[in-house]
Amino acid sequence: MPLDKTYKLVPGTTVFDAEQSAKGYHLNQFCMSLMTAANRERFLADEHAYLDGWPLREEQKRALLDRDLNAAVRAGGNIYFLAKWGAALGLSFQQMAGSMTGMTEQEYRAMMVGGGRSVDGNRIDHAVLEAAHADPTPPAGHATITGAVFTSHVPAIGAAMDHHRTDEPYWQPVFEGYEFSRRWARENLPDVVFLVYNDHATAFDLSLIPTFALGTGAAYPTADEGYGPRPVPGIEGDPDLAAHLAHSLITDDFDLTLVNEMTVDHGLTVPLSLMFGDVEKWPCKVIPFHVNVVQYPVPSGARCFALGRSLRRAIESYDRPVKVQVWGTGGMSHQLHGPRAGLINQEWDNAFLDRLVDDPAGLSQVPHLEYVEEAGSEGIELVMWLIARGAMSDIDGAGEIEVRHRFHHVPASNTAVGHLILDNHPRAEAPAVKE
Ligand code: DHB
Ligand code: FE
Repeated sequence: MPLDKTYKLVPGTTVFDAEQSAKGYHLNQFCMSLMTAANRERFLADEHAYLDGWPLREEQKRALLDRDLNAAVRAGGNIYFLAKWGAALGLSFQQMAGSMTGMTEQEYRAMMVGGGRSVDGNRIDHAVLEAAHADPTPPAGHATITGAVFTSHVPAIGAAMDHHRTDEPYWQPVFEGYEFSRRWARENLPDVVFLVYNDHATAFDLSLIPTFALGTGAAYPTADEGYGPRPVPGIEGDPDLAAHLAHSLITDDFDLTLVNEMTVDHGLTVPLSLMFGDVEKWPCKVIPFHVNVVQYPVPSGARCFALGRSLRRAIESYDRPVKVQVWGTGGMSHQLHGPRAGLINQEWDNAFLDRLVDDPAGLSQVPHLEYVEEAGSEGIELVMWLIARGAMSDIDGAGEIEVRHRFHHVPASNTAVGHLILDNHPRAEAPAVKE
């Protein structure tokens, strides 16, 4: 079932949603560039030349040169961004708003002094609303979740691959645990991986701490975490599906941060390397989904599990027949700091894997304190696995899961490596629908 975008029917109004944002990305970023005096000076000296320095579409350039704000809004511009452009040209908000109404500046000002525009006659037309809701055309298909992958993301694993040391006695047993996974990944290649990971003080420092951040951009380069960027490809995103997921999840009350530009660190690239090996280009699109597990309070297991359930509904309500895998990364037990560094709890890890398969709802109730105490301070990364588990269709009785692979090994660097692969078998007749 398509998402409710009835707001598109409000007359004379363009709601700035993720779809508009993607359409107007460079236009709005151009506007932001006018927030420095030096750029304004260059812009005013030669508008054409300045605009040519931005990857704008012809219709966007035309709108700006014609001072046509309605056209700029249609082309994806947002008024708060466009106001920077207007300010550079010496226009006030009232002049800008008035210019879009077909009135003269004086007429518009007089209308505002007279109490403003009446809402009467400016609501959604009932006939238009009925016609929109009467459309019976069912979607040609919908997206499906084909499986889940859970894996640790230790940076030293990436380094072992990058420096061709995977056959060394220390590393050999780690990589042996992923031999099945590589075959499974080749045979079950999705169109898109929704990859849940945590950024490790790489893209987000202490100036910005989003609890949940969804990557809605087109591409993300590999981060330099201090050793130089890993020699692996950057990832290609899926802005269209990501915009759909943003709409659906935020409508479900998950207050996401949307990220169009960031670098991605080992939390995301190491799982891709483990599953897809040494490749020139990742074989599918990847939607990055970051969870804050660095600064407390971090989201609870229950919140992550609920988000996973909402994510399944979001994915299955996407009207394109794409195959999606959901990956949960990080963990297992490890502590990277202080006198307790090196803590490993194999028993707790294995019980976590058992419960992740058989009792995920119960597992989601485990408090942070238990993760920290039993699995080490950085073992808290495991809450992210509950997002991927929550997205499996058995959770709401809409299908079944099948365990394809399970692996646990100690150590990789400071960490216990845990890995699980689930196939997801939704019942064909029961795709999730948005309530
Ligand atoms: C290690 C593990 C991690 O999950 C991480 O993010 C950084 C380092 C480690 O074991 O060295
Ligand atoms: Fe980590």
